[in-house]
Amino acid sequence: MAETVKLVYQGSTYEFPVVEGSLGEKAVDIGSLRSQTGLVTFDPGYASTGSCKSAITFLDGEKGILLYRGIPIEQLAEKSSFIETAYLLIYGELPSCKQLDEFSHHITHHSMVHESIKNFYDGFPNNPHPMAVASAVVGSLATFYQNELNVRDEREIEITIHRLLAKLPTIAAYSYKKSIGQPLLYPDNSLGYSANFLKMMFGTPCEDYEVDPVAAKALEVLLILHADHEQNCSTSTARLVGSSMCNLFASVSAAIYALWGPLHGGANQAVIEMLQEIYDDGGDVRKYIQKAKDSEDSFRLMGFGHRVYKNFDPRSKIIKTMAHKLLETSTTKEPLLEVALELEEAALKENYFIEKKLYPNVDFYSGLIYKALNIPVNMFPVMFAMGRLPGWIAQWKELQEDENFKIGRPRQIYTGAKTRDYTPIEKR
Ligand code: CMC
Repeated sequence: MAETVKLVYQGSTYEFPVVEGSLGEKAVDIGSLRSQTGLVTFDPGYASTGSCKSAITFLDGEKGILLYRGIPIEQLAEKSSFIETAYLLIYGELPSCKQLDEFSHHITHHSMVHESIKNFYDGFPNNPHPMAVASAVVGSLATFYQNELNVRDEREIEITIHRLLAKLPTIAAYSYKKSIGQPLLYPDNSLGYSANFLKMMFGTPCEDYEVDPVAAKALEVLLILHADHEQNCSTSTARLVGSSMCNLFASVSAAIYALWGPLHGGANQAVIEMLQEIYDDGGDVRKYIQKAKDSEDSFRLMGFGHRVYKNFDPRSKIIKTMAHKLLETSTTKEPLLEVALELEEAALKENYFIEKKLYPNVDFYSGLIYKALNIPVNMFPVMFAMGRLPGWIAQWKELQEDENFKIGRPRQIYTGAKTRDYTPIEKR
């Protein structure tokens, strides 16, 4: 018999169905709660709210499991490429050779941006944050392709997906080039996704630039690890904006802004700034652990804790190993890695962190890898955005194809003034 949950309220009993996911997750379907009882639910931060059914990503925060379309993240990080992983997330299956060739071809051949987009970069003030630039330029793409924005037209969605995946690295690299006063380089179609991005970031028109394959591989793995994470803040933003049937460029532009905050994609930048602060302050990690524990102090250990992972973050394990490898082969020593290792070791022995189940998350080590790749700190969240793009696209597409498609519109509990009369200004 189908499971139900009973709610007793004001002497009446109401019954709600339990829905079950393919890996055993259960939820109460309260879709008819308000019409049956007059009540709404109250769940700030949506900690207990499932906003959709989704077949894209599964994660188990207690066991530290992360699957894209059923495949463990560890296998994808080791064996797949970012483009193949993007295909998997967006279309649900690993591509055949032919499908992968075609998909890669489209993405490679849409990587140039319209020449007049370059003028936008001149309009920003000096040294703008590249996250603001990335979001603004992605949003502006809708003006260049305004006859192909129909969210119910498969072909128009398809070409928008190719354009977004192809152009975001170009847009991101241009914002960096502009900030350091160097000429913008055209994409190089002979290179893979990550190598092309690194060349646009660090090459100049004056000389040949050889992309380091170790750096390109490290970036590729980081992008895969960030590619989706079910209903996080930026993905929920992409879905909510998309739920008004707004186009994919606008939804991704909004998601980039949502990702910018220090509690989400901005955390990798915040981690490096924190590690640098600790290092400059003499490297006493205990002092900062005390600060993080002090309820009177707003300081938090950046890169620690996660809304869902309460045991360990599987992505941080892979990244930690990679950070070690990359920094071992690097000719310059990275003192911040030492601070990070000490901080992690000391924090994991503290009752405060054990009891609250606070472990290093994906951002704790990713910033160190970006640093080893010479990517400037303010570009870190943009790197996260490049990685998360397939996830935003896949989730937006799934929403548009959902047979129960509805505009997102949460309720609230009003706590403001009771009804009262307007007071004329001379009587206030
Ligand atoms: N340092 C010190 N205390 C912490 C930390 C931390 N990093 N994170 C959580 N806590 C404490 C918090 O003070 C609270 O204590 P109490 O119960 O006494 O009030 C308790 O742990 C629960 O914290 P919360 O803020 O209610 O938990 P949350 O699930 O709402 O927040 C989080 C999750 C990731 C926003 C939070 O852990 C945090 O601010 N971490 C630092 C920022 C960070 O690394 N963000 C990257 C997240 S992973 C990448 C991504 O998905 O974007």
